[in-house]
Order: sequence, then structure tokens, then C-alpha cells
Amino acid sequence: MNTLIAYFSYTGHTKGVAQQLQNLTGGTLFEIQPQEAYSSDYDITERQGRKETHDGYRPLLTEQVSNLDSYDTILLGTPNWFNTVTPPVATFLSENDFSGKKIALFCSNGGGGLGHTVSDIRFICKGADVLDSLSIYEDGGADVKAKLMAWLNKNGLNQ
Ligand SMILES: Cc1cc2nc3c(=O)[nH]c(=O)nc-3n(C[C@H](O)[C@H](O)[C@H](O)COP(=O)(O)O)c2cc1C
Repeated sequence: MNTLIAYFSYTGHTKGVAQQLQNLTGGTLFEIQPQEAYSSDYDITERQGRKETHDGYRPLLTEQVSNLDSYDTILLGTPNWFNTVTPPVATFLSENDFSGKKIALFCSNGGGGLGHTVSDIRFICKGADVLDSLSIYEDGGADVKAKLMAWLNKNGLNQ
């Protein structure tokens, strides 16, 4: 199994989970970053994120994965923003071809669960095999490692 762990994180929760998944799977970490970073002021980012999500805006990214063909499995991390994937993750999904690849979503959220992130990913990534997704409340809490291991096992992604 050749695994890419691609994620965007604003306040660090998704990043922490992605790092734990890297430890568990030995996969390659890739941080999805917009060319214009979001403001550290939460209220400004909340307003901007709401507008971008509403408009279906897809921000330019700082870099692309150069060798996506060499990965068969993508562990995709995003916070839940307004019930969907964050705009940088939407850009990442739409700029790459995931057909024939497995995508397993892990979605950090503030209580809204997965929202409609899964159907959005299926819509953008036609031809991908979208596996069982994982909703994580904020940083996942003390037993996050056990939750991640169970999720990897369920998807047949344990090493
Ligand atoms: C712009 C914005 C919109 C958000 N919208 C939602 C939402 O609709 N539902 C929800 O449960 N959490 C929402 N949240 C909370 C985040 O999903 C949650 O804090 C998550 O753990 C953040 O992950 P991160 O630290 O990787 O950025 C939102 C946060 C931001 C900044």
C-alpha cells in the first residue's frame, strides 16, 4: 500500500490527526495550503470561509503533489467548514485525478460531524473509491489513536 496523507488545517486539529496517521501508516504527509493564508483572526476567516464556501470558490494552492500516480490510497483530512470540505481541499480534489484510487476521509469538526463532506467528495472525485469516513470532534481527544487504528482496520488500511 502506498499512502498519501493530504490535509488542510486552520487551527491545528486536522494537522495533529494527520501526523498521528503518518506514524500509524508510514504514509507521506502533504499539507494542502492556499497561496493566500487565512487570517489568524477567527472572525475574519469565518466570514471569508462562509463566502468562499457559498460561492464555490477554489483558492490557488502553494504546491501540488508531484507524483500522485505513485499513491493508490489517499487519507484526506479536512476540517468541516459549513458542512462541507474547506475551499483549499476542494481545489486539491478538483485539480487532481483520483479515478481508480481509494480516498478515506477524516474530518475534524466542532460537533457537526461529517456534514455533507462525503457526498461532496464523491461528486468532485468521480471514479474514486470513497471508503468509510471518520468524523473527529476537534482533536479527537485522549483515545484518538485507538479511533484511528479502528478506522484504518475497518478500511483494510492497517499495515
Ligand atoms: C470557517 C469555519 C467554519 C466552520 N464550520 C463548522 C461547521 O459547519 N460545523 C462544525 O461542526 N464545525 C465547524 N467549524 C469548526 C471546525 O470544523 C473545528 O474547529 C475543527 O476541529 C477545526 O479543525 P482544524 O484545527 O484542523 O482547522 C468551523 C470552523 C471554521 C474556522
